[in-house]
Amino acid sequence: MLPITGYVDRWSVRPGEEINFMIGVRGGGRYRARIARVICGDPNPQGPGYREIPVSWALEGEHDGKEQRVAKGSWIDIPLLDLGTGERPIAFAATIWPTLIAADRQAVLNWRGGGVALTFGIGAKGVFCRLATPEGLVDVDIGVPLTERAWHDIACLFDPATGTLQLAQAPRKARLDRDERAEKSVSAKSARLSGVGAAAVAAEHSGDGAHLHFNGKIERPRIVAGVGGIGAVLATQRIGAATSSGTIIAEWDLSIGIPTDMAADIGPAKAHGRCVNLPTRAMTGSRWTGACHRWTEEPAQWGAIHFHNDDIGDAGWTPSLSFIVPKDWASGVYALHLEKDGARDNIVFYVRAAIAGSQAKVAFLAPTFTYTIYGQYQKKGREALIAERSRAWGALAQAPDGHPEYGVSPYNFHSDGSGVVMSTMRRPLIDKRVNQIHLVDPSPYGSGLYWIAADSYITDLLTRKGIDFEVITDHDVHAEGAELLSNYAVVLTGQHPEYHTTETLDALGAYLENGGRFIYLGGNGFYWKVVPHASGPWAFELRRAEGGIRLWATQPGESYHAFDGSYGGLWRRLGRPPQMLAGVGFSTQGEYKGFPYTFLDGILDPRVAFMREGMEGNAKPGSILGERGLMGGGAAGHELDRADTSLGTPAHAIIVGRAVLEDPTYQPVNEERYDHTWPAAREDIIRSDLTFFETPNGGAVFSVGSMNFIGALPIDNYDSVAARLITNIVTRFANPAPFPAPRTANV
Ligand SMILES: [Fe+2]
Repeated sequence: MLPITGYVDRWSVRPGEEINFMIGVRGGGRYRARIARVICGDPNPQGPGYREIPVSWALEGEHDGKEQRVAKGSWIDIPLLDLGTGERPIAFAATIWPTLIAADRQAVLNWRGGGVALTFGIGAKGVFCRLATPEGLVDVDIGVPLTERAWHDIACLFDPATGTLQLAQAPRKARLDRDERAEKSVSAKSARLSGVGAAAVAAEHSGDGAHLHFNGKIERPRIVAGVGGIGAVLATQRIGAATSSGTIIAEWDLSIGIPTDMAADIGPAKAHGRCVNLPTRAMTGSRWTGACHRWTEEPAQWGAIHFHNDDIGDAGWTPSLSFIVPKDWASGVYALHLEKDGARDNIVFYVRAAIAGSQAKVAFLAPTFTYTIYGQYQKKGREALIAERSRAWGALAQAPDGHPEYGVSPYNFHSDGSGVVMSTMRRPLIDKRVNQIHLVDPSPYGSGLYWIAADSYITDLLTRKGIDFEVITDHDVHAEGAELLSNYAVVLTGQHPEYHTTETLDALGAYLENGGRFIYLGGNGFYWKVVPHASGPWAFELRRAEGGIRLWATQPGESYHAFDGSYGGLWRRLGRPPQMLAGVGFSTQGEYKGFPYTFLDGILDPRVAFMREGMEGNAKPGSILGERGLMGGGAAGHELDRADTSLGTPAHAIIVGRAVLEDPTYQPVNEERYDHTWPAAREDIIRSDLTFFETPNGGAVFSVGSMNFIGALPIDNYDSVAARLITNIVTRFANPAPFPAPRTANV
């Protein structure tokens, strides 16, 4: 646990609105808090240096802190469940697909009430049951291990008449090398299971929280009374029917309410549960045939939920610092700085203008969706790698791999090896800070930045060039659409606006149709689809279906989002390649090292004459730009996009500059490859295109198509060719004079 950290309830806020910070202080005690407007988030002393402007804030100073922890692990909370009189035999059953047998004991179903607690689950020795009563404890393992990633029906049965507790397990598909079928019976004479209590699925819930989290899928957990033996329970579990001789006390049909957090009890008591910590729904169940892939067509085949012991939803911390943002805070990038006994952290948030467009007609669109999805990106060894340099530079030295207590990102695997589908901003995102580096830059003077710290080069450039701007976020565009964007003459993206919802892409598309001007200052943008949680975009679901550069892929039958039933994956595969919006789209990825661009003949086109203003000698065919940069040592680097009319780049687009990368780490993206060979020559795919085109109603787009491009802006005190080019473009784009449509004579 970090000595001090926290999170904010919203990425952006207007003056006059409330914002809440949840702060966790290890061991409690006094801490200091202050807020500053961030000018440059890069701590590298060989660059512009970390700079900020303190702001006057009523809560600045010392506060009492308290320890707040993240309770990881998903489960279903059923707060009220009446087991009845307890005179008849009572059975607990479920169908499971375990994924982490090595974790040993994991609860599948748990009930507690009246001083009695029963936990039924699996461990390294197969099914177990633990029955704790005031009279004593019965704890039994069946003794036969189960197979990971295979379906099994499991049950336990307590018969008060005979005082026996029985366990049974049966695989849906028999193994030939060993028999997993097993039954066991033990004496539990003094036990009684009756009355009102609480239940849990996928965890044991006791007074101090949830434990023994299950890893894997659970389908059709149920509790039945008056059954005719454990064999009958297993048989009815297998065929999916109600038990013939028993009475259902509760049966949770997890194919109901898939887009929600609700777990529906189809039994008479309607003891509905609530999914905690965002387990993954719309996962194939034991009866999935493979004939149908969209869960909305036959939800019953997707009656399983995949639980993980490291899932996190809403950490639920108590607000520590809440305030109304003062009216005189200008729109910009802000950081709450926290300090406790020399330990530091900061939490970034964005202040919007009270009325959109009232402060400036240029907007920086902070890619807060991508920040969220990348939040807690655990990269092994990263904290150790950056520690020394971070301390030397006075930067934050912590990284997610050193703090798994705050969870993982969709760039990681769960502890059971499955891909991470969910991400949440309601927990500390300790790698989405300013005054932070993310790697040791391969260039001797480089900064090694990503995300928020990197994107501050853009706002720093605007500030230094005297270009007034406002900040808006993906979250704002998602909520307010093209109407919000219509307040701005120019919208600039960050370095990596990779993740988008249908709403944000629609808004950006409409903005461009209506004469908006758009500057895409990144690489690998507009790439994956994400779907927000039903209650808002504080959490996202991401299904990495089919192609794409990705660390994991969806399993068969699991490529449709639970949150809205839509198909997941690349926007390119969904019929909306990035080229259709920005003129360029992801083409190649390599290591972080960057390289220069070369101006092409296109830079001399009269349509882009404004780009050359004041630097006619530098901006000419054959001359280079971005040959130095604080990110990888050059402007063209890491993830690069190309123009391609077959994917939607407008025919009239002008490529004013290009970088073809010779570095052997650069490879074509997966979606371009069909066999063991490269799909085209190096210059056709291992490249980035500086692309300009006019849009309807007098608008225009300029795209750089490189993640490291903005690292070239601060070079020579923001007077590099790259910085002057972008400044010229922003200046012209902010000028309301329409860009005329480029007409060629009909042939
Ligand atoms: Fe990315």
